[in-house]
Amino acid sequence: MNSIETGRFNINIYNGIVDLISKIIEIRDPYTLGHEKRVSQLSCAIAKKFKLSQEDISLIKIAGIIHDIGKIAIPAEILGKPGKLATYEFSVIKEHTIIGYEIIKSTKLKKFMGPIANSILQHHEKIDGSGYPHGLKSNMITFPAKIIAVADVVEAMTFHRPYRPALGIKTALKEISNKKNIFYDSRVVDVCLNLFETKKFQFS
Ligand SMILES: [Fe+2]
Repeated sequence: MNSIETGRFNINIYNGIVDLISKIIEIRDPYTLGHEKRVSQLSCAIAKKFKLSQEDISLIKIAGIIHDIGKIAIPAEILGKPGKLATYEFSVIKEHTIIGYEIIKSTKLKKFMGPIANSILQHHEKIDGSGYPHGLKSNMITFPAKIIAVADVVEAMTFHRPYRPALGIKTALKEISNKKNIFYDSRVVDVCLNLFETKKFQFS
């Protein structure tokens, strides 16, 4: 009987499954090739600074890699569209959070993946309640989702996107600094800024 059947946490099985999923996501959305891995890398570095348990850090690492798994169901012409999205197209993109949550919840891994499913669902929520899909305020958003939200925006602004050129790390850090306590959790922002400014964190 393997670890999934016996209910034991086995990081090797997780990593194998997650690697498979991330490859599928990258094939589906090559425009963001490497995005998931870099978000995971930064999320993990932030999580370690909060002295979370090894299991929590591992779950955040995995959630970072598959946070956009719901994009598998979004039409490629919308995902890769250059330029500004129409309101309707953006509403379709927003659905990737709920779709990703439901994908994880519908599998036999849901027992293990519960915290990851919530991170996927909430990674575009903002602490002032202006995010999506549910407009949750700070106290309703899980801490891992707050970490992934910061890592996601920093990575997304630093690198090229189909709808705009790369803005660079300075602009990304300024964004999280300006939106601290408005969109992003202040503790997470402080740790992220510290990682780049004094710990010389670099995306690999
Ligand atoms: Fe996303």
